[in-house]
Amino acid sequence: MLVINGQIIDVPEPLLTVRLVDFLRDFLNLRGTKFGCGQGLCGACTIHVNGQSARSCQLQVQDVLDSKLTTIEGLASNESDLHPVQKAWIESAVPQCGYCQPGQIMSASALLAENPSPSDQEIDTHMSGNLCRCGTYPRIKQAIKTASRES
Ligand code: FES
Ligand code: FES
Repeated sequence: MLVINGQIIDVPEPLLTVRLVDFLRDFLNLRGTKFGCGQGLCGACTIHVNGQSARSCQLQVQDVLDSKLTTIEGLASNESDLHPVQKAWIESAVPQCGYCQPGQIMSASALLAENPSPSDQEIDTHMSGNLCRCGTYPRIKQAIKTASRES
């Protein structure tokens, strides 16, 4: 059993060894979580496991049994009440192609949950595992600082 975005999911035995990113995308149709490198290096597949950011390409379903997972689809309680990080992302017009952005937002929101006022250095360190081919890094940092002030 898992709880994903507040919903209890019973996992059939044959799916326990499926890679978590594939389980989310292909079995639960939660396609906001992206697949990039598959090696834990790009951050595109970042979700929260018990509130901590985690690379879903590096986990199997059985690794997160009895855990609470949040994906980008579950970060906001509803569309009219976005998470402060999502609001700041919109305000700073962060995305370009968008592919890396769900992972960036999940990493940023995990950072602010743990450290509501991170320093520049702490932002850089925490976000260093989330790559962006479009080079949106300055806007990502700006949005994290905005969300930090407003959360
Ligand atoms: S796809 Fe998981 S870190 Fe790149
Ligand atoms: S916005 Fe294109 S990869 Fe980040």
